[in-house]
Amino acid sequence: MNLNEFKSLVLSRQSCRSFSDKEIDVNDLKEILSTALLAPSACNSQPWKVYCVTDREKMKKVAQSVSDGGVNSFANSAKAFFVVAEKTASLKKGAEEKFGRNHFVKYDIGELIAYITLAAKAKGIDTCIIGWINAEKLNAAMNFGDGESCNIVIAAGYGDCPLREKVRKPSGETSQFI
Ligand SMILES: Cc1cc2nc3c(=O)[nH]c(=O)nc-3n(C[C@H](O)[C@H](O)[C@H](O)COP(=O)(O)O)c2cc1C
Repeated sequence: MNLNEFKSLVLSRQSCRSFSDKEIDVNDLKEILSTALLAPSACNSQPWKVYCVTDREKMKKVAQSVSDGGVNSFANSAKAFFVVAEKTASLKKGAEEKFGRNHFVKYDIGELIAYITLAAKAKGIDTCIIGWINAEKLNAAMNFGDGESCNIVIAAGYGDCPLREKVRKPSGETSQFI
């Protein structure tokens, strides 16, 4: 893949807030997941566990947990959720002493969700990263393992809205050559 092809993928990924009725093949979800789990993390600690939720009853509960107060109501039309739980990292000794055990976890999770959303798009599947979460409801729905917590859910499905132009700050404001 060259940069133009990568850029096309990047431009085609957009937050999808309307999913069609088309179901996602479970093998596609597996492929997305196995690719995304190759994401880098500090000291290769991989402080995460991704739950791919397709069970209808469980999905209803996850959708409720991200649509408190009338936001994110599109989650009801998602065909799968990637529920991204974060865990305590185990860094190399020197790094842990210098920075603290969980210093890099949010960055690691950011890498992972970027990989999930781009891998999904490469399979033709749309996503929306969701940070507006009622943690109590999500915890009740997911029954996370010890030490796991979740701040990010990714809704997935086949989008039925047109491709939007990207709205971003001017690059001179957010980057600089020195
Ligand atoms: C950490 C994070 C949390 C987000 N939470 C939500 C959310 O709760 N609901 C939503 O509709 N979009 C959410 N988004 C999507 C952003 O609004 C979106 O990425 C941004 O406006 C850029 O648009 P684009 O993704 O279409 O390029 C979130 C994105 C990130 C990275």
